[in-house]
Amino acid sequence: MTPETLPAGTGSPGPAELVLLLSGPNLDLLGDRQPEIYGTETLADHVVAAADEGQAVGLHIEHHQSNHEGELVELVHGARGRTAAVIVNAGALTHYSWALHDALAAYEGIVVEVHLSNPAAREDWRHLSVIAPVADGTVAGFGGLGYRLAVQAVARIRAGAASRP
Ligand code: DQA
Repeated sequence: MTPETLPAGTGSPGPAELVLLLSGPNLDLLGDRQPEIYGTETLADHVVAAADEGQAVGLHIEHHQSNHEGELVELVHGARGRTAAVIVNAGALTHYSWALHDALAAYEGIVVEVHLSNPAAREDWRHLSVIAPVADGTVAGFGGLGYRLAVQAVARIRAGAASRP
């Protein structure tokens, strides 16, 4: 098969098709961790959903999870010039990591923030996202569906169906 005849999501993706999916602290515990809030699906389930959605729209999802702020910052640095978008669920770092904010501010691609729960409907300290000001948009409160919606958002923005400020 020539590259043109390869199904979407196979072959080696170029920067235009590559999306970094970034998962922050404690998301490795999904499935086990407070299922009444975060559901019973594991992080692996969400990654599969994102990859599946990506395949449908011609995007390749590269996933990394870390419990360490500096590692997440370096992963964003590594995405510069190499990826079309970063989809990020920064976990609790969402609410206070100015380092991650600055790393994403220095990233030139599309940024979509995603949360399983709806932080705006939870404790006061979750109402501030320091990621939101450097994201194109946020998907929150839809559980695992949020990962599919985030991939859709990237695809639509790339296709010019949504405008970026
Ligand atoms: C979360 C919401 C954050 O407030 C929390 O610290 C998380 C998960 C979510 O996906 O709903 O770890 O990002």
